[in-house]
Amino acid sequence: MGYREVYERSLTDPDGFWGDAAQTIDWIEPPSMVLDDSSAPMYRWFTGGVLNTCHNALDRHVAGGRADQIALVYDSPVTDTIRTFTYRELRDEVARLAGALRGLGVGKGDRVVIYMPMIPEAAMAMLACARIGAIHSVVFGGFAAKELATRIDDAKPKVIVSASCGIEPGRIVEYKPLLDGAIEIATHSPDHCVVLQRPQAAAAMVDGRDLDWTELVADAVPADCVPVGATDPLYILYTSGTTGQPKGVVRDNGGHAVALAWSMSNLYGVAPGDVYWAASDVGWVVGHSYIVYAPLIHGCTTILYEGKPVGTPDPGAFWRVISQHGVNVLFTAPTAFRAIKRDDPQGRHLEQYDLASFRTLFLAGERCDPDTLHWAEEALGVPVIDHWWQTESGWPMACNPMGIEPLPVKPGSPSVAVPGYDIRALDDEGSEVATGKIGAIVVKLPLPPGTLPTLWHADERFRESYLSRYPGYYLTADAGFIDEDRYISIMSRIDDIINVAGHRLSTGAMEEVLAEHPAVAECAVIGVADDLKGQVPVGFVVLKAGADRPGTEIERELVGLVRERIGPVAAFKQALVVDRLPKTRSGKILRGTMRQIADGETWKVPATIDDPAILDEIGEALGGRGYPKG
Ligand code: COA
Ligand code: AMP
Repeated sequence: MGYREVYERSLTDPDGFWGDAAQTIDWIEPPSMVLDDSSAPMYRWFTGGVLNTCHNALDRHVAGGRADQIALVYDSPVTDTIRTFTYRELRDEVARLAGALRGLGVGKGDRVVIYMPMIPEAAMAMLACARIGAIHSVVFGGFAAKELATRIDDAKPKVIVSASCGIEPGRIVEYKPLLDGAIEIATHSPDHCVVLQRPQAAAAMVDGRDLDWTELVADAVPADCVPVGATDPLYILYTSGTTGQPKGVVRDNGGHAVALAWSMSNLYGVAPGDVYWAASDVGWVVGHSYIVYAPLIHGCTTILYEGKPVGTPDPGAFWRVISQHGVNVLFTAPTAFRAIKRDDPQGRHLEQYDLASFRTLFLAGERCDPDTLHWAEEALGVPVIDHWWQTESGWPMACNPMGIEPLPVKPGSPSVAVPGYDIRALDDEGSEVATGKIGAIVVKLPLPPGTLPTLWHADERFRESYLSRYPGYYLTADAGFIDEDRYISIMSRIDDIINVAGHRLSTGAMEEVLAEHPAVAECAVIGVADDLKGQVPVGFVVLKAGADRPGTEIERELVGLVRERIGPVAAFKQALVVDRLPKTRSGKILRGTMRQIADGETWKVPATIDDPAILDEIGEALGGRGYPKG
């Protein structure tokens, strides 16, 4: 069957389509229903089904002939380490850790926060939770203590699993002081912290609360997989919303396993036994789905890479990993390729490596600019596939379905709707816009399996954020258009989320931090175009009357404050003191026009503006960057 037929069937016969897809998963009890619409618009998949995600990722492969196949390769140029784990070894490690967690009283439905760098133990911790039915919540290492504390208070973990440090090029990031700081700020306290001591930094332990990973696991009795309901949560992953309070995206067990397994063969064109590498971080959804769960559920070898595309040690790092481990498919963000292109525009480093195994490059996380796409195509000589999705969906929403039928590539477009997703572009009134016209990109309900059923303990916020704007549709919060061939283009967000080096950040959350500074009267943060990171945040602040210190000093403090409160990942390096912010007569800050000025786009003086002269002041504060007035 070609793409069109597969797609049509997914929408007209979702029960048959996903019922067939569910055959690739081992069920303890098969589901009694495929699509459960009894509580629409809150849909569930595979109600009544019982399974264990860790069994599907590890044990069934050990029993089914893959025991000695490498399940996970840990490749860490920053520590000069390569370690491999067969499926049997990984299963045994995970079972022992699961036993250790169970020994600490962690059971089905309990939450475990995982705050770890890119080491195999992070994946083991996720799988160990899945094994005993506990719900993990991984927090990205680049977030600061306060962000970690917010997540601890929302998820209320019984145990937190962490490590003494992460390694960023040129510096050791000590995790334990951040963890201790977060627990101090948080209202909720975990019973225990399990800490892996890495040789690069020793963590100071709190007596009674903190436990050494190695000692704990050495004495543990391995735990078996427990039966878990298909609709029970597997994990919570917090992602930026429009305020400082992140959204706890919930993922269930059954739909997740089915959708990920289906995506591996049909979208990525990957077979069991293939080597699959998602160069991301376990702290992001890409890491959850395509470093840990999908490749293992599908019986592949997954690569867990602790390094960067450049500087560890050079822009040939990705090519070295591909050739050394025989990688067939790589998935990363366009920003990584922009970094490689910047440091090695001629692709010279490619000459040293044999990339014979390499078949396809997938890019996602931000819009892929056609220049980067063409550069990658020419340098690598393989198909380069932009695809589009988000934390909420958990797997691709638009993609060139390489395993069904490779379609022509249109640069700038992540291709067509993935089977299961009925994607439309709507105008403000909820009517479909004309072909090629920009609208709000929505998905007609129900969403397919694997997508978020709700937000953690926040059904109402889920409805309000995603289902209320256009009844009957899920709001992606992206804007874009659909062309005459049904190719989708994603152009921007309709909220205040920006995308910095493939990382999703809320400018609203940064504004909340700036507003806390005692000298700040009001502020605005906008995302400004950046050659490497796609976008970077820039803050504008108006000081309170009588602020008696130099603006530059306050600007430095504000940069430090965002780093301290949100974390280095915010990449907030520029705060500018201005006399006034441009506003409409009703007092709304004109962030859109400010962004156009900063990006040097042609802009018009908005009719509703209070005082147009302020726009010139903003241009001057930006040092005349771009700035052709329309
Ligand atoms: N723990 C602690 N700090 C971290 C971190 C982590 N896990 N990850 C990033 N940081 C820090 C970085 O060290 C940097 O700190 P600095 O301000 O002191 O330099 C800051 O957060 C910003 O990081 P990043 O945005 O990653 O920028 P970078 O300049 O270090 O690297 C790229 C730029 C393009 C090389 C990098 O972003 C990259 O490899 N991206 C790959 C794409 C990706 O992972 N996308 C995720 C979704 S697919
Ligand atoms: P995250 O939830 O961190 O995965 O970020 C999801 C957001 O990143 C989406 O809502 C889009 O705004 C953006 N995004 C991801 N992939 C793409 C893509 N291929 N093209 C354009 N935007 C993308």
